[in-house]
Amino acid sequence: GKHQLLSVDQFTRESVEELFRIADQMQPIARRQKVSRVLEGAVLGNLFFEASTRTRVSFGAAFCRLGGSVCDTTGFTFSSMAKGESIYDTSRVMSGYVDAMVIRHPEKGSVAEFARATNIPVVNGGDGPGEHPSQALLDLYTILTEFSRLGKLLDGAHIALVGDLKYGRTVHSLIKLLALYRGLKFTLISPRGLEMPEYLLEQTGKHGHTVNQTNSLEEGLAGADVIYATRVQKERFAAEELEGYTPDFQVNKAIIDKCCGPDVIVMHPLPRDSREGANDLSVDLNHDTRLAIFRQTDNGIPVRMAIFAVLLGVEGLVQHSLRDVTW
Ligand code: CP
Repeated sequence: GKHQLLSVDQFTRESVEELFRIADQMQPIARRQKVSRVLEGAVLGNLFFEASTRTRVSFGAAFCRLGGSVCDTTGFTFSSMAKGESIYDTSRVMSGYVDAMVIRHPEKGSVAEFARATNIPVVNGGDGPGEHPSQALLDLYTILTEFSRLGKLLDGAHIALVGDLKYGRTVHSLIKLLALYRGLKFTLISPRGLEMPEYLLEQTGKHGHTVNQTNSLEEGLAGADVIYATRVQKERFAAEELEGYTPDFQVNKAIIDKCCGPDVIVMHPLPRDSREGANDLSVDLNHDTRLAIFRQTDNGIPVRMAIFAVLLGVEGLVQHSLRDVTW
């Protein structure tokens, strides 16, 4: 079939772990101990029609660190979609310019539409409230890396997902990916009106996992191995829907000291909202080793390199392509 990454539904536990073995091989490059030119001559089209720092830059940096080059277009205003060009035409045109595309777009299903119009590899960098597969992959990679350091197994772990579980696409992809493991206990903590979509609850339950829902952070975090906080996606709904979202949902040092063990891992896809009144994740954990958010962002590079290596069929060449850093 076509080489594309549109949804985490594409993965089995075996294929995801194979991707992570490739990501491990990329670590010396990501850590600047080695260089590789395995994608020399290839050009990536980074098409972002929604705000992004991490996904856009880390996909770009991952492609460059494998020896490729990146062409960017950012925002509707700076693309010809502002002049009414369709997804189909945009995708056909880009296919003649670049060798792979990463696309972020505000509508669910839009990236699949781009992919249908082309034969070059397409990666979903976030389609509205739909999915964000590369984020979920780097999140799972982070959880497995952290658990390995702590001598823990993912099977049977307690994962608490906190915040806007309705519009947060990262948690939609992540819960499906985690469901490939066994016997997980999920606690879903969200304000009324921002609960996880029903179909994802049913799907997770069918895979034999336990799913509990609560609006109490304290109750939900008790005994968690992983806390995954999320930002309220204010850009996706009317302000009135926010009623009921209070600072009670903030993950901070006091609450994790009270509810969780010393080995808990605190994650967040980022960005966290640092504006007045925002309450997703406190800065009082910034120097706390339990906070894994910057280890998560670092892991975005090797995981995204692995994604490109597989989509462009060079995963077998990576090991031999490694050269010493000369700078
Ligand atoms: N986590 C994430 O997708 O961040 P950006 O929106 O900055 O890409």
